[in-house]
Amino acid sequence: MRFLTAGESHGPQLAVIIEGYPAGVQVSADAINRDLQRRQRGYGRGGRMKVETDRVTIGAGVRHGKTLGSPILLTVSNRDWVRWEKVMSPETAGGAGENPEILGDDRLDRVAAKVTVPRPGHADLAGVLKYGFADARNILERSSARETAMRVAAGALARLLLKEFGITVGSYVQSIGGIESNALGVPTPEEQAFIEESPLRCLDPDLENRMMVAIDGAKERGDSLGGTFVVYATGVPVGLGSHVHWDRRIDGRLAGAIMSIPAIKGVEFGLGFEAAKRWGSLVHDPIEWTEAGGFRRPTNNAGGVEGGMTNGEPLLIRVAMKPIPTLYSPLPSVDLDTLQATQASVERSDICAVPAAAVVGEAMTAWVLAEALLEKFSGDNLDDLKQAFAAYQQRLQMGDKGA
Ligand SMILES: Cc1cc2nc3c(=O)[nH]c(=O)nc-3n(C[C@H](O)[C@H](O)[C@H](O)COP(=O)(O)O)c2cc1C
Repeated sequence: MRFLTAGESHGPQLAVIIEGYPAGVQVSADAINRDLQRRQRGYGRGGRMKVETDRVTIGAGVRHGKTLGSPILLTVSNRDWVRWEKVMSPETAGGAGENPEILGDDRLDRVAAKVTVPRPGHADLAGVLKYGFADARNILERSSARETAMRVAAGALARLLLKEFGITVGSYVQSIGGIESNALGVPTPEEQAFIEESPLRCLDPDLENRMMVAIDGAKERGDSLGGTFVVYATGVPVGLGSHVHWDRRIDGRLAGAIMSIPAIKGVEFGLGFEAAKRWGSLVHDPIEWTEAGGFRRPTNNAGGVEGGMTNGEPLLIRVAMKPIPTLYSPLPSVDLDTLQATQASVERSDICAVPAAAVVGEAMTAWVLAEALLEKFSGDNLDDLKQAFAAYQQRLQMGDKGA
């Protein structure tokens, strides 16, 4: 299974094509929209969120609510396109130089059509040098995290497939700007309900308040904040991924997928970096077996992965996001036209997007797990997959490990 996204941040639409998704899975635009909306929420988001009300159109691969096994096309139209048509038109030149978005006095809503001053912390400078452009808009339109909307759409389909096998994926924010809880585990159902309502996808109201104050402070200073979030998955069977080859190890694949999210700078499994400080006896999870429950682990310091395979415990991945690089009090940069020192351009921007990044982290995790599930229980349709899955579960229950 694979997916390919296309679309510029202010272009007419975003698209994703998903190939290899099995036939016979019940899917709906509503289920995808639910995740798209979860990505759009969050305290500290910028002006763009006011105009983004993402709604997906299913353009191919689904009939009467069920997947056909053929490539699935999902698109999201840019509701702000009319304002950007000249600047971003695929047909005509001539928009560059005009300012498409002076919507009022709010400086959050001002952007320049042609961007000649690269923003530190962005793809702008390396991109214009690599691709030979004088206008960094040609880079930033695609490097923008707006693209992650389509990853979330693909992830929503992955999530629907995983649900058929009792696998769920969720997330919560653990820290923002150094204000942190040390929670690392699967939240209780009550906590999960709180997280979904929380503007910061946070577990704890006190923490949430302190984080909001920090975000307000950053906004006043024209600054930004990052943080950490946890992605967890429950119901994951033993044996997704493999120890036999580097590119089949599930931790490597998950880490790569999550690190590919813009602004993500670190990924840890279970205890992660903390494990490097401890005795081995205080890190590795003992193995137990009972007649009723089979194999179990009293601790989950490994975060659900051993030897490049899921080990049947919940997956626990902690992810670090850097502060948003666009600053309303911009850092020094250089004008590409004049080579004179100046301040970086300001593109309408979030102050903090950790909660949204957590939803993207869920999507990438769901995607990699769904891919690995299809590899292990390969089948063209859901029934075939379920049969293979049931046979495997039965073998594990009977304690038959083969020759
Ligand atoms: C959900 C999400 C929203 C983001 N929103 C913004 C934003 O509004 N402004 C900004 O400058 N960067 C934003 N970023 C981060 C940049 O896209 C990212 O830092 C930049 O493309 C450079 O990539 P790198 O940080 O991986 O090197 C966001 C990232 C994510 C995951």
